[in-house]
Amino acid sequence: MKETGAFLEKITLHFEFERYSSLQELPAGDLTLMQEAMKAADDAYAPYSHFYVGAAVLLENGKIVRGNNQENAAYPSGLCAERVALFAAGAQHPGVKITALAVTAYPESRKEPEFPLSPCGDCRQVMAEYEHRYNHKIRLIMQGGHGTYIATECVAQLLPFLFTGDALK
Ligand code: THU
Repeated sequence: MKETGAFLEKITLHFEFERYSSLQELPAGDLTLMQEAMKAADDAYAPYSHFYVGAAVLLENGKIVRGNNQENAAYPSGLCAERVALFAAGAQHPGVKITALAVTAYPESRKEPEFPLSPCGDCRQVMAEYEHRYNHKIRLIMQGGHGTYIATECVAQLLPFLFTGDALK
């Protein structure tokens, strides 16, 4: 009799990211984008969480679109910085590929985070949609904790088994 519970194969996924020891160590393009994200964070509307998030989207044509978190007294009505920036890019520059996204955040104290600050699941899903839509990887640059920075080559690897519109065809 065939044994149950025996899997066909065991698969291990490989996840790769780069770590940089400080902001200044980032490659020039990443640094510029991160500085734009920092400016965006300064203008965040976060009167409830006091957690100021900034995002900057780089388009293939070199344009940069900023976004920050926009909160609301009815809490779920607000939106994360990443999605504000991505949707603004999608609305204002339709059809233009997105090549990179930088995200930064700081609490009211402006203390450097001790741990990596990475985008929430909903924002990853939205990023992945643009990656899929334009069939183009989006480089993601974020804080790595203790003043370090992290960059990943694409968003899809942050969402294994990701849901795309292919499933709806
Ligand atoms: N927030 C973002 O803007 N991006 C994220 O990836 C996570 C959280 C915002 C939402 C809310 O305004 C505040 O941070 C606290 O959750």
